[in-house]
Amino acid sequence: MGGKLIVFEGVEGCGKTSQMQLCSEWLESLGVSVVVTREPGGTELGVHLRRLLLEKSSAQGEPVAEVTELLLYAADRSQHVEQELKPNLAAGKYILCDRYTDSTIAYQGYGRGLNMSLINQLNNIATGSLESDLTIWLDVDVEVGLARKLSDKVGLDRIEQEAIAFHRRVQKGYAELAASYPSRIVRVDGSLSKEAVQELIQEILRVHLHLAR
Ligand code: TMP
Repeated sequence: MGGKLIVFEGVEGCGKTSQMQLCSEWLESLGVSVVVTREPGGTELGVHLRRLLLEKSSAQGEPVAEVTELLLYAADRSQHVEQELKPNLAAGKYILCDRYTDSTIAYQGYGRGLNMSLINQLNNIATGSLESDLTIWLDVDVEVGLARKLSDKVGLDRIEQEAIAFHRRVQKGYAELAASYPSRIVRVDGSLSKEAVQELIQEILRVHLHLAR
């Protein structure tokens, strides 16, 4: 027992992936057993769902209906919670999870404008009401994040290709979520240097998770 679910959230290009990697190395150096995972795509089924959700071609071909998109994220989450999160928490692991329920509220709720009570219901069904112990919100300007993504040269995925106004609504969603759940969601200024962001994250984890210094 004693596992923890630590989630990283933010708009496109906020730096989650590299911060999670650094964080995992740091936790392991403290002797903590860490699992790094993500949504969508943290299970075998999820890898398929991620491709369906994010591949660019779906933006050019048959559009993905908004509620279909919501249900696919919920399906990915349900599988992830059952297959990965619950067993690893039960085994006492510290899970670093790239996106979770707040992404659905921010993207499908604020971004797409889908009904919040439907989203909350689906989040509850998919998670069996499993909440994160701590959520780190890496806050960067939408323009800065998208510019980082554009310079990746991988090309933008279906959601990254959305209009800037969509990404601004997502950002507003994170700001409102952080204001509503101050003990669960902690904002970190993602525009700082990689090293400075990591230091802040480590300090937050020490305090919130009572880790040894
Ligand atoms: P990322 O793993 O590179 O951040 O990409 C995941 C994308 O999926 C990102 O654009 C956010 C989006 N997303 C949602 O729209 N809703 C969700 O519930 C989740 C988990 C992700």
